[in-house]
Amino acid sequence: KIYPVILSGGAGTRLWPLSRAALPKQLLPLVNDKTMLQDTALRLTGRPSGTSAGAPQLMQPLIICGNEHRFLVAEQLREINVKPLGILLEPEGRNTAPAVAAAAHYLKAIDAEAVMLVLPADHVIADTEAFHAAIARAANLAQDGALATFGIVPTGPETGYGYIKSGEPLPTEDRGYKVERFVEKPDRATAEGFVAAGNYYWNSGMFLFRAASYLSELEQFQPAIASASAEAVNKGYRDLDFCRLDETAFAASPSDSIDYAVMEHTRHAVVVPASIGWSDVGSWSALWEVQERNEDGNACRGDVYLDGVKNSLVRAESRCVAVIGVEDVVIVETNDAVLVAHKDQVQRVKHVVEHLKCQD
Ligand code: GDD
Ligand code: MG
Repeated sequence: KIYPVILSGGAGTRLWPLSRAALPKQLLPLVNDKTMLQDTALRLTGRPSGTSAGAPQLMQPLIICGNEHRFLVAEQLREINVKPLGILLEPEGRNTAPAVAAAAHYLKAIDAEAVMLVLPADHVIADTEAFHAAIARAANLAQDGALATFGIVPTGPETGYGYIKSGEPLPTEDRGYKVERFVEKPDRATAEGFVAAGNYYWNSGMFLFRAASYLSELEQFQPAIASASAEAVNKGYRDLDFCRLDETAFAASPSDSIDYAVMEHTRHAVVVPASIGWSDVGSWSALWEVQERNEDGNACRGDVYLDGVKNSLVRAESRCVAVIGVEDVVIVETNDAVLVAHKDQVQRVKHVVEHLKCQD
C-alpha cells in the first residue's frame, strides 16, 4: 500500500500579488478552475497504470498543512469529494523535513509497513499516466528500502532546484539508478557545470520511501528533528477532522528541508527518471508556460481587454484591465495590489515581498 502525503505548507511568494500568506499558491486556482491542491489530490485517483494485478494501491491522501489553512484545505477536498486519510496540522512551519517526519510517524502507527509518496501541493504534472507509471516503477525500489526520487531532465541551470547525479543503473527492470550525489540549490556556476555534464537530473520534490526508511535516515542525520516530530505526533490530538501536532514538541524541532536534512546525506537514494510534463510553477513566467494561451500567445484570466498584446500573462481579479501594444509582460491585478513586470524579470517578484515585509 502506498500512502500519498501532500505537503501544503509553502508560501509561494514568487506568485505575489495573488499568492499571499493567508492564501498561498497551492490553495489558488492558478492553471485551471481547480486549485493546485485539488489537482494534486485528483491526480492520485486510480491505480498506477502499466502494472500487474499485484501493483501497489494508492490510499487516500494524508495532508499536512499549517493550522491557519485547515478550513480552506478541508473545504477544497470536500469540493472534489476526496476524503483524506487525515489532515495533520502544524502549529508553525518547520520546513519539509519535520513535516515529512510527522507524516511518517503518523503513518507508521497505522501501518508499520507504510510506503509514503511525498508530494508537493503546488506542482503541475501534465501526463498523469506517465506519473502513475513512474510511481509504480519507484514502488519496488522503495519496498526494498530505497529513498526514491523522481528525476526531471533539466532544461537550464536553474538554481532553485536540487540536482541529482545518477550513478550505476539498478539491476532491476525499474529503469532506476543509484544516486551518486544530491546537491540542493547549487550556485549558478555549479548548476551550469551539472547541466553541461549531462548525467544530472532536477529533483522533482516528490519522494517515495517506506516511512521507516525515512525515519531511520533522519535519526542518523538530524536526530533532533526525528525526536521532536515523534513527540509532536505522540502528544498530538484529534480536533474535529484534524490531527493537531503538539505545539511545544513541534516548535522544538530544528527547521530544515528534507533535501538538506536527508537527501544530501543518505546513501540509499535512487532516481527514477520521470517524463511527466512536470513544472513547479515557481514564477509567473512558468505559469504562462503551462497555461492555455490564445493565438497571440496570451494567457488571460478575468475581465481583460487586449489590443496588440503578445506573449503575455494578464490576470484581472477584481477590476477590468486594459492593455495596449506591449509584448512579453506579466500584469496581475488584485484588490489591493497590482504587478506589472517584464516576463523575463519575474524572478525579482520575491524582492517585492521582502520589501513589503520590511514595511510591516
Ligand atoms: N506542510 C508543510 N510544512 N509543507 C511545506 C513546508 C512546511 O513547513 N514548507 C514547504 N512546504 C511544501 C510546499 O508547499 C511545497 O509544496 C513543498 O513543501 C516543497 O517546498 P518548497 O519550499 O516549495 O521547496 P523548494 O521548491 O524550494 O525545493 C524543493 O522542490 C524543488 C522542486 O520544485 C526541493 O525538493 C528541491 O530539491 C526541488 O528541486
Ligand atoms: Mg517549490
